[in-house]
Amino acid sequence: FEGLTRVQHMVEKGVMDHVPESFIQPPHMRSAARSLDLDLQIPVIDMALLTRDSQGKKQVLADITRACEQYGFFQVINHGVPESLMDAAMAMAKKFFALSAEEKEVYKHQAASGAVGYGRIFEEYRKPDEVKEWLDRLTLDLSSARDPSQSWLVINNPPGFQEMYDEYGKAVYELHKKLLGIISEELGQAPDFLYSKLGGEKAFMRTMFNYYPPCPQPELVMGSAPHADACALTILQQQVPGLQLLHDGIWVPVPTSFDHAFVVNIGDSLQIISNGRFKSVLHRAVVHNTSRISIPNFLAPGVDILMQPAVEMCDPITNPPIYKGVTLSDFLKFVIAEGYGRSESRAVE
Ligand code: SIN
Ligand code: FE2
Repeated sequence: FEGLTRVQHMVEKGVMDHVPESFIQPPHMRSAARSLDLDLQIPVIDMALLTRDSQGKKQVLADITRACEQYGFFQVINHGVPESLMDAAMAMAKKFFALSAEEKEVYKHQAASGAVGYGRIFEEYRKPDEVKEWLDRLTLDLSSARDPSQSWLVINNPPGFQEMYDEYGKAVYELHKKLLGIISEELGQAPDFLYSKLGGEKAFMRTMFNYYPPCPQPELVMGSAPHADACALTILQQQVPGLQLLHDGIWVPVPTSFDHAFVVNIGDSLQIISNGRFKSVLHRAVVHNTSRISIPNFLAPGVDILMQPAVEMCDPITNPPIYKGVTLSDFLKFVIAEGYGRSESRAVE
């Protein structure tokens, strides 16, 4: 595997006291620039209230919708995904990255088989002068909803990984549907309104297991460079802090103080479908001198589905459509051409 950067094995090869130049961000892109070490109080939604009484349900619907409009981010607790499954996913991710370099390369990402595999996706599109991100990742698509035209990857090592992902993935997919249903209801639509805009059963879920190795100079690098997610919704699991979002021009950390919470954020697809009402917000991941794992799960429109402002969310006079219809794959080509992970300009605008 000549030529590939696996940050983890570069770090583990020997004692490293400074990071290689190709990872050093220009000063304005470093973690200290325009950042506040103050947790932004993004809303924490207790989904148990949904089934308590009608008042509780109303509260959840209103809180989620406001969060989508104001922050583009919120957290959920009592979300119905068993804690044991979340723990299993984190534990399996740790075990996967603890495999030897050779064992992991068996699952190497290959451009011909879509986005799945070990290694950063879109690598083949990156510009040679692009500053490298301080992470390695494993990307998987959930089998039940995968694009049948793409080849498929099953992870057999560590043993039990695929069984874990089948179960965890299904549970998180259901949570995606539940959240879309809540937002749809608050919009005065049927619960399946947004899900059907993604193509219903054609909507597919992609999961990334992100590993950020310990870094000797975390202040100089970025784990995940500023970007917005192209999907409709992202549901992310983290234990160690690192995720930050841009709010009013300042980078603020997403707190990790809620046990077994998921972080949820709006992606570009939902910003487009909602005609700009819901915000797909720039975010990034900083690193530390200890390792960190995050597991984002993206729900995206079916491959042949045209994402466009929903007529139900527009008005010809007061709120005309501000985006053209586009498929996710054409949209991704556009995002990549604009410089994925390089600029802070919003891809969607
Ligand atoms: C990402 O959004 O790309 C990763 C965020 C994280 O690691 O928390
Ligand atoms: Fe992201």
